[in-house]
Amino acid sequence: MLRPLLEADVIARRITELAVEIRRTYGDQPIVVCGVLKGGVPFMADLIRHLSGAVEIEFLGVSSYAGTETTGAVRITHDLKRDIAGQDVLLVEDIVDTGLTLDWLRRTLGARGPRSLRIATLLDKPERRRVEVVVDFVGFTIPDRFVVGFGLDLNERYRNLPYIAEVVEGP
Ligand code: IMP
Repeated sequence: MLRPLLEADVIARRITELAVEIRRTYGDQPIVVCGVLKGGVPFMADLIRHLSGAVEIEFLGVSSYAGTETTGAVRITHDLKRDIAGQDVLLVEDIVDTGLTLDWLRRTLGARGPRSLRIATLLDKPERRRVEVVVDFVGFTIPDRFVVGFGLDLNERYRNLPYIAEVVEGP
């Protein structure tokens, strides 16, 4: 059963605020916005449309999850199509849970020599953190619940929901 947690209009308002905050942080600098596939796509799509100034988009595919449990194994399934050395890079994630994926991504992309590397996540579940990671822009901090919608899936389902819902036991 799905129990709505964050409605579409609440998410939209928060993303607009984040875009303003992000642009303020970067000043006039061009930003290479890297969306993490697949979950980060709806968030990224909304975010870039509210980001003023020079923005490029890139996608990075990683596989880290099977069902509802983290495997800890991260592997690149789709790499960036441009060199990020010397660039101001903003990595856009759907959710930070244990932090393992992000920690790995930070190290891996950091090794490519970007001028700066910041992270924006729509959701943050700090209770489950296993490694400390710095997240620069957070949409919503949520409790330790498994959520779907707005890019987030349960075995590839529900990514298309326009809101975020908690998966609860029930009929
Ligand atoms: P981490 O490495 O544990 O931080 O996991 C990050 C990834 O796990 C996210 O990018 C999601 O794909 C997935 N994930 C973590 N929590 C949830 C959830 O509540 N719903 C759906 N996917 C999740």
